[in-house]
Amino acid sequence: MKNDSMNHSIARENYASSDVLRDGRTLHIRSIRADDKRLLQESWQALSKQSQYFRFFSPKDKLTEADLLYFTEVDLVNHVGLGASIVSDDAEVPVGVGRYIRSDVGSNAGAELAFVVGEQYQGLGIATILLRHLVLIAREQAITEFTAFVLPENTGMQIVLHKSGLPMKQVINSAGVLEITLSLT
Ligand SMILES: CC(C)(COP(=O)(O)OP(=O)(O)OC[C@H]1O[C@@H](n2cnc3c(N)ncnc32)[C@H](O)[C@@H]1OP(=O)(O)O)[C@@H](O)C(=O)NCCC(=O)NCCS
Repeated sequence: MKNDSMNHSIARENYASSDVLRDGRTLHIRSIRADDKRLLQESWQALSKQSQYFRFFSPKDKLTEADLLYFTEVDLVNHVGLGASIVSDDAEVPVGVGRYIRSDVGSNAGAELAFVVGEQYQGLGIATILLRHLVLIAREQAITEFTAFVLPENTGMQIVLHKSGLPMKQVINSAGVLEITLSLT
């Protein structure tokens, strides 16, 4: 019991880790914080219209104040957000975000999964690394499956999920969106 609560506290308050990208650069991963709003907005506005569309399924060139609150003021239990950055010229450059949000607060079962990786950093394995960390945290918190809502034309996200090696199921919902479920058990 004691170890469990220590682990949860690490996940909630200051999750931090480093990984090496396939191009040799170091990727820093940490929990998203309330003071990340400006970074998040700048990173969002630097994305292509297609990446923005793939995330929200509608045009969205700017995050609203409500979005920024929702995406940065997370409790790291029901809503876990991780930011990935690299250090360039002594500055922290945000390169991606991965998050999960429990689908049913109070139940320990499922969570919705989402990622955004900056255009010039896509294909370096960043979403894959973020997913690995989210899986670790989710399993610690007894979450049994992730569901991602993915447009059929978004092959990149489908490949990331497929390559996770986790048992995967997918259905196409009434809106024509793929609901891809990864089992964490
Ligand atoms: C989808 C997305 C998150 C992938 O992030 P990423 O960091 O580029 O993914 P990775 O580098 O971890 O890719 C994992 C594998 O998928 C492959 N892959 C990723 N995107 C691909 C694409 N568009 N086409 C073909 N393969 C792709 C990678 O090459 C890699 O395979 P490899 O290990 O054999 O090289 C990123 O493209 C993105 O942010 N898109 C816009 C927002 C979005 O679609 N979010 C998902 C909706 S929730």
